[in-house]
Amino acid sequence: MAALRDIRNKAIQKLGQMGNETSGLDVDLLLEAATGLTPLDFILEPDRQIGAQQEADFQALLGRRLLREPISQILGRKDFWTLTFKVSRHCLTPRPDSEVLIEAALKSIVDKKKPLKILDLGTGSGCLILSLLSELPHSLGTAVDISDKALDLAKENARRLGFQERCTFILSDWAQELPPGDKFDIILCNPPYIAEEEAEALAPDVRDYEPHMALFAKNNGLEEYQKLGKTLPGLMAVGGRAFLEIGHEQGLRAASIFKNGGAKNIRIIQDLAARDRCIALDF
Ligand SMILES: C[S@@+](CC[C@H](N)C(=O)[O-])C[C@H]1O[C@@H](n2cnc3c(N)ncnc32)[C@H](O)[C@@H]1O
Repeated sequence: MAALRDIRNKAIQKLGQMGNETSGLDVDLLLEAATGLTPLDFILEPDRQIGAQQEADFQALLGRRLLREPISQILGRKDFWTLTFKVSRHCLTPRPDSEVLIEAALKSIVDKKKPLKILDLGTGSGCLILSLLSELPHSLGTAVDISDKALDLAKENARRLGFQERCTFILSDWAQELPPGDKFDIILCNPPYIAEEEAEALAPDVRDYEPHMALFAKNNGLEEYQKLGKTLPGLMAVGGRAFLEIGHEQGLRAASIFKNGGAKNIRIIQDLAARDRCIALDF
């Protein structure tokens, strides 16, 4: 038996020593997962004793975090928009920054009850398409990924969250396997956009645990935008709009790629940290 306070303080210290900037939060999440107690309990009852099995469970979770496994993968879930998604090492963990795409898409839709066709290219966990569908009760989604394991996870999230009737999943290299002539009112896409040369500088939590096909792109991180610049025009319904995530220094270069592909009214939208994060395109 050991007191919560001692276990918690030691763990925070250990994580802090490896340079973790969110040690307190991480420890609380792991302690909650191992004991079923809440962070409020940790504050109100610091002298509470926890059993040997619970402590062993906690130390096992902490050991994974000390090896830099992301908290989302240890817990197997991540909140995004208003939903909770199952995640694993087969998909990118949804990032709060990507919520900018959902906000921008929703702002552009005047009648939320209108049935729209929405395409999500590179769906990963399904976080973008399922979040948008949750706000548009009469719309239908198509979600594409080149990774069968990511697609399985997205399908599972659709089932768990009750969207399986409104979303179709297709294993495809971007739009290659979509039915010919299929057109969409809204396209969402968060492609891989980190330059391969930047891999060494990435935090090991990202570089060693998230799928490289979700992170890296050739040509200084721009190769997938170049492919999409050619593909998107043929997928858009009349008056359709696309919202793509961009790296915070890629706005001008992405804008020039999509302008050459025929996009109009190109806007760069910033995230909560006031960094360029989304490019919105009309067709
Ligand atoms: C940056 S992750 C985005 C995942 C999710 N949409 C999100 O925002 O969290 C990029 C996703 O695109 C997928 N992807 C990469 N290249 C692709 C391609 N050529 N065709 C389809 N999907 C691709 C990856 O497997 C990965 O799931």
